Amino acid sequence: MTGRTVYLETFGCQMNELDSELVAGELARLGYAFTGTADDADVVLYNTCSVREQAEQKVWSRLGELTHRKGRDPSVVVGVLGCMAERDGVDLIKRMPVVDLMCGPGELDKLPALLDNAVRTKESLASDSPSEGGPRASTGSGTGAHGKTVTGRNISAQQVALQGNTSRRSATLAAAEDSLEMLDLSRSVSPVDPASGAAKRSAYVRITRGCNKFCTYCVVPFTRGAEIHRPPDHIIDECKKLADAGVIEITLLGQTVNHYRFEHGASVAVGGIVQPQKGRTYKGSHQRDAFAGEQTTTFADLLARIHDEVPAIQRLRFVTSYPRDFGDDVLEVIRDHPRICRYLHVPAQSGSNRILKKMNRGYTVEEYNDFIDRARHYLDQPELGRPLMLSGDIIVGFPTETDEDYDATVALLRRSRYKNCFIFKYSPRPGTVAYDKIPDDVPDEAKRRRNNDSLAIQSEISDQIAREQVGREVEVFVEGPSKQQLKREGLSHGDIRKAGGAITLTIGGQDPSTSGTGFQPVSTRGTGFQPVDSAATSTLPNETVQLSGRTDTDLIVFFDAPASERDALTGQMLRLRITEADRLSLHGKVI
Ligand code: SAH
Ligand code: SF4
Ligand code: F3S
Repeated sequence: MTGRTVYLETFGCQMNELDSELVAGELARLGYAFTGTADDADVVLYNTCSVREQAEQKVWSRLGELTHRKGRDPSVVVGVLGCMAERDGVDLIKRMPVVDLMCGPGELDKLPALLDNAVRTKESLASDSPSEGGPRASTGSGTGAHGKTVTGRNISAQQVALQGNTSRRSATLAAAEDSLEMLDLSRSVSPVDPASGAAKRSAYVRITRGCNKFCTYCVVPFTRGAEIHRPPDHIIDECKKLADAGVIEITLLGQTVNHYRFEHGASVAVGGIVQPQKGRTYKGSHQRDAFAGEQTTTFADLLARIHDEVPAIQRLRFVTSYPRDFGDDVLEVIRDHPRICRYLHVPAQSGSNRILKKMNRGYTVEEYNDFIDRARHYLDQPELGRPLMLSGDIIVGFPTETDEDYDATVALLRRSRYKNCFIFKYSPRPGTVAYDKIPDDVPDEAKRRRNNDSLAIQSEISDQIAREQVGREVEVFVEGPSKQQLKREGLSHGDIRKAGGAITLTIGGQDPSTSGTGFQPVSTRGTGFQPVDSAATSTLPNETVQLSGRTDTDLIVFFDAPASERDALTGQMLRLRITEADRLSLHGKVI
């Protein structure tokens, strides 16, 4: 047991949330304890996101705050994990000397060793000569983990684990030997969520890593490396393990999750060597059978297998879908398997073909619309109580975007009728093709205007969809007390953040208060490993509490329940009737 305390804060997407959970599980096994505040932690870790500049700025400001603390207490170990570490590389330590270690998302299995080294270095310095720096503070030039020479400061491989450009080398790896794969496989399935004391009933399972799409604005292919598909048996074992530990809802994760495809007998595809989906269009199950054969597990096959082989999972969801090559085979499997959720997150990014081309998205607006129509055709059955809900992502102000291009995006927004849409102003990211080749020429004023305008349009649509739900009976997965409830109980915003979990105020599963642009998936959630102050959550016997639940179509519904049942209901399925749509929020009553 190390007895050291760790504060771990997570920024960015669900992939990062899962990474944080795995890292936390691993560190807990090694004897680290988790704390809800950075102030007195021995180790402070930020699992970071690079997708937009704003996401990085949050981390810079956190690191700035830590500089003061470190001045007083040099023994604190500060680590930057995730996409920002991978993207900025050793330059990050040079700019922010408060950082002791960095670990990219593809190297997280090395974190315990890096941390151990950092802690020991501090301890030996404290006992030898407290005024001298660690190994990286020695003068002269040294070679970093990926061969970079850093003048004036030796940044050693003991402090930095980054993939650099190795992740795209055209080698194939056997999945079982992949140490990252081992991290997913060895996940510690804790039956109790220390944040709430309740059984952990909802979990993420990764099915692919990385991305090969190279949309011209996006850093993810650089930070997460080449697309790798996990073996289906590993995925199913993980789902079974989670189900055995009480999990009833699983969300499968991948950047282009519907591109999942595993070639049996072949090694795992790395660096784009095995990309059998290239040049093929899935048009129907007969065609799928024609080329899939027994040696391939397609995404449709995987969904059906998990559904059938892990019956304890009451809800199977997946994000994020890529609109191209989304075959009817997948839609048929969703239609025919009742526990697969009828919710698709399918980002369009733009409604203008000219801009889509510049973004390298690989589809036209017509193809996107065709997909939406097919999805509705197969899956939208409100008369059977099984409607389909869609959500999207849009970027406004991509370089060269004109008012006409923007108008086309508005038309797409109206046509798609998303229940919610994440709308972002284009953020130029160094190292991407757009950054290098297409000047960021849309004035910020125009970006802001288009952003506000499209958010207002989306709010109208979301509001209409919310109103259409009134009177419906739905089954919700109870996520716990609503944010409003936590506020009522006197938890500060910071405490709510530490409480973790999917706390939200909109029907879209997004929390507008964390967002600069109104709607952003970038969260600053704790890992759920931080304890919530139990005194603050205690209630009187006859009191009611407001809880929030999520439908299988990803709508959030608030409802009141006796305070005494709060813990028992959390993590359960419950039937509600939707009684009211108040702006973007739905309210219901237990039936
Ligand atoms: N793999 C997913 C998206 C992952 S990134 C997909 O392809 O749909 C999440 C979202 O961030 C993207 O959908 C996009 O809308 C937004 N995004 C990515 N890079 C951005 C940038 N440079 N500026 C603004 N938004 C960006
Ligand atoms: Fe980024 Fe495009 Fe890959 Fe999504 S598909 S992660 S937007 S490169
Ligand atoms: Fe996710 Fe952000 Fe990385 S969106 S993949 S954490 S850049």
